Amino acid sequence: MTMLSVSSVPRVLSLFPLALASLVVVGTVRLFLENCSHPEKIICHSSAIEPPLFSSTNFLSNWSQCNIYDGKWVLDNASRPLYKEEDCPYLANQVTCQRNGRPDSLYQNWRWQPNGCTLPRFDARKLLEILRNKRLMFIGDSIQRSQFQSMVCLLQSVIPDGKKSIHRAPSMKIFKAEDFNATVVFYWAPFIVESNSDHAVKHTVHKRLVKLDSIEKHSQHWKGVDVLVFESYVWWMYSPLINATNGTPYIVEEYKVTTAYELALRTWANWIDTNINPQTQKVFFTSSSPTHLWSWEWRTGSDENCFNETYPIEGSYWGSGSSIDIMKTVTDVLHEMKIKVNFLNITQLSEYRKDGHTSVYTERRGKLLTSEQRSNPKTTADCIHWCLPGVPDTWNEILYAHLLHNSYNNF
Ligand SMILES: *[C@@H]1O[C@H](CO)[C@@H](O)[C@H](O)[C@H]1NC(C)=O
Ligand SMILES: *[C@@H]1O[C@H](CO)[C@@H](O)[C@H](O)[C@H]1NC(C)=O
Ligand SMILES: *[C@@H]1O[C@H](CO)[C@@H](O)[C@H](O)[C@H]1NC(C)=O
Ligand SMILES: *[C@@H]1O[C@H](CO)[C@@H](O)[C@H](O)[C@H]1NC(C)=O
Ligand SMILES: *[C@@H]1O[C@H](CO)[C@@H](O)[C@H](O)[C@H]1NC(C)=O
Ligand SMILES: *[C@@H]1O[C@H](CO)[C@@H](O)[C@H](O)[C@H]1NC(C)=O
Ligand SMILES: *[C@@H]1O[C@H](CO)[C@@H](O)[C@H](O)[C@H]1NC(C)=O
Repeated sequence: MTMLSVSSVPRVLSLFPLALASLVVVGTVRLFLENCSHPEKIICHSSAIEPPLFSSTNFLSNWSQCNIYDGKWVLDNASRPLYKEEDCPYLANQVTCQRNGRPDSLYQNWRWQPNGCTLPRFDARKLLEILRNKRLMFIGDSIQRSQFQSMVCLLQSVIPDGKKSIHRAPSMKIFKAEDFNATVVFYWAPFIVESNSDHAVKHTVHKRLVKLDSIEKHSQHWKGVDVLVFESYVWWMYSPLINATNGTPYIVEEYKVTTAYELALRTWANWIDTNINPQTQKVFFTSSSPTHLWSWEWRTGSDENCFNETYPIEGSYWGSGSSIDIMKTVTDVLHEMKIKVNFLNITQLSEYRKDGHTSVYTERRGKLLTSEQRSNPKTTADCIHWCLPGVPDTWNEILYAHLLHNSYNNF
């Protein structure tokens, strides 16, 4: 059995275009907008309620009509990046592109501008206040780990030294803001359900085996957590088939990935529906993080990847790496659930960001790419993970907007 680090996933993934090309049809995704008539969205109707902690903002009054996922990237050197790479001590070498030698930095200067409203300005103190005596947990793979790191960087700047800490526990990284008794956790579970890839460092990439009906080993650590953010995608997409078990008797069988994904998601949905108290807990599910592995998809005739890309894609774009079928499975399952799960629909907005990946300015198996490896970007560039500061900061701004909105509803 080959043990590989997470950062080796990109190379493996470059196998999946052929496999997936046939599955992907751009177009018809069912709309799943925020709807204020939902019982948890009372605030949309009752502008009379005075917020307990914060003054009202335009954002909140427009929240109900605004699809925040519909918009464009605008250059905003004045307010972006939200933090400096060198000022955040918690970034892993995998994502510190400037320190790793990336020559351009414009990718840090883009702000997501929805068409019908403006996202609230990220306010670390406000969020820490919302998270006072609470736990926020990100569950998923290395993409999710970067969203965790982004969140920690966004929060840590307002916390003095000695009042913040980060430590590891099995499968977890735990950030604490002492004065607020606020905790932000990353939990490694690349398939959400159990698998043979559950060790955060020593896991097999090639011989994946997923237990579609088993979640207890992980979910025991999610009990009572105030805000849960789930994500799982890229690990499923190695080939169109995946080895899995489902129920008894314990038989390993090859499943179509779309089938396996749905079975796993239903196991998860069932756990959420029976274990979450919607009065005190909030659940989010992040849509797939796009990849930019094949430059011919945005530049006809080219034969490269995200390497050397310094500018977002302009105009409509959807890459074949983002499976519409999986997206539909997620929204269908969420729709059928008893507990309301907020769908963080970050795929489309991140699709434009071919410039945001770590490319060759990253490490692999714990070592920075050598100049020799860098000179061969076609095989070494990582077009799956993102530089920080960067695109995952925007996912957190959106998460922040949701939490701010919820905080008006006694959360
Ligand atoms: C919101 O919910 C109402 C009633 O449930 C429905 O009529 C309306 O179409 C929904 N709007 C959206 C945007 O989903
Ligand atoms: C996600 O957002 C994009 C951009 O607004 C939209 O086109 C798409 O329909 C949304 N998908 C879902 C499932 O809500
Ligand atoms: C933003 O900064 C970049 C590089 O630092 C520069 O090239 C660009 O012209 C600036 N844009 C604006 C609108 O100031
Ligand atoms: C709120 O929405 C209205 C109409 O949709 C728009 O004209 C206005 O600019 C929005 N306000 C903000 C602050 O985005
Ligand atoms: C600190 O936060 C935890 C949740 O993370 C909570 O269980 C505990 O009661 C809090 N402590 C105090 C003193 O409020
Ligand atoms: C499933 O496992 C068998 C036995 O190890 C292996 O031969 C096969 O290639 C695996 N299938 C996939 C899709 O990985
Ligand atoms: C990358 O960009 C640099 C500077 O624009 C250029 O010299 C080089 O040829 C480009 N490399 C590739 C592989 O496109």
